[in-house]
Amino acid sequence: MASNRKIMVLPGDGIGTEIMAANMKIIDWLAKHRSIDFDMQEGLVGGAAYDAHGTPLTDETLADSIASDAVLFGAVGGPAYDDLAFELKPERGLLALRKEMDLFANLRPAIVFPSLVEASTLKPDVVSGLDIMILRELCGGSYFAEPRGIDDLADGTVMHSGILWRQVMTALHAAEGEGVELGHMYADNCAMQLVRNPKQFDVIVTDNLFGDLLSDCAAMLTGSLGMLPSASLGAPDPETGLPKAMYEPVHGSAPDIAGKGIANPLAQFMSFAMLLRYSFDQGAEADLLEAAVDKALQSTRTGDIMTPGCTETGTDGMTAAVLDAMDRLAR
Ligand code: IPM
Ligand code: MG
Repeated sequence: MASNRKIMVLPGDGIGTEIMAANMKIIDWLAKHRSIDFDMQEGLVGGAAYDAHGTPLTDETLADSIASDAVLFGAVGGPAYDDLAFELKPERGLLALRKEMDLFANLRPAIVFPSLVEASTLKPDVVSGLDIMILRELCGGSYFAEPRGIDDLADGTVMHSGILWRQVMTALHAAEGEGVELGHMYADNCAMQLVRNPKQFDVIVTDNLFGDLLSDCAAMLTGSLGMLPSASLGAPDPETGLPKAMYEPVHGSAPDIAGKGIANPLAQFMSFAMLLRYSFDQGAEADLLEAAVDKALQSTRTGDIMTPGCTETGTDGMTAAVLDAMDRLAR
């Protein structure tokens, strides 16, 4: 019987292809041990699509992505594409997917696993137990705003979007935020507070550009940029109730370590766990995968999160450790 869970797989560039190959082993495990099978289709995006088709996202790949239940994304970009025209750069493929699929809500959970407290560059008591959800607006702001370009504003005004942001959040809070404490912060202060006392935040709701910066900052609290997953969601479909969705690690294509087999696949795995949870309502499997990541981390590490006493390994070794933990936890 054909699966009704359609996943569009877009590995992209750099370490994207390596961590996606690792993710496929998790998917194989679920097929074998949980009889969950997905209808998978793979496509090119970013530099890989440019090399093959002269554009970072073909109309066909976009249409297939829109028609899927979820897009599983790796990473795009690399120095080979630095001199391309703006519209041809690998990142444009990613931004076009976000915009065309109207994935306006980007969820970036920054969670410190107990075993990784020592891997953070911050003091253990500052980060232990940290659990922040960054909610980044993903289809507007400086990334997409019109008119574009460099212009003199006749009246010299700036930052009006910040005022709108406050008004909307305050009204939303009044209407739906009972029991939730709402505060406003400038983004520069928020960046400072994130490294001073990150546990003061439960959720940070922020615009596209600031969300990009603040989520990288929050990622380092968790030990490594290699640990942050994300879900980009649109409005729920009126028939199925499910949102259009794309899942991707926050870290990017890491050209400096691409092809070496040492990339940390965990943010990719946890992005896939978010896919299971948000797109297919498979919370039990998502929990299992996240618990396996936690368990694997207790003894096995990639270089970016290595701490003394653990065994250092590469992408394959880390993946094997997670699969082994899944075996053991599933017993
Ligand atoms: C991210 C990335 C992207 C962004 C780039 C690759 C366009 O940094 O997802 O955080 O700026 O949104
Ligand atoms: Mg970013």
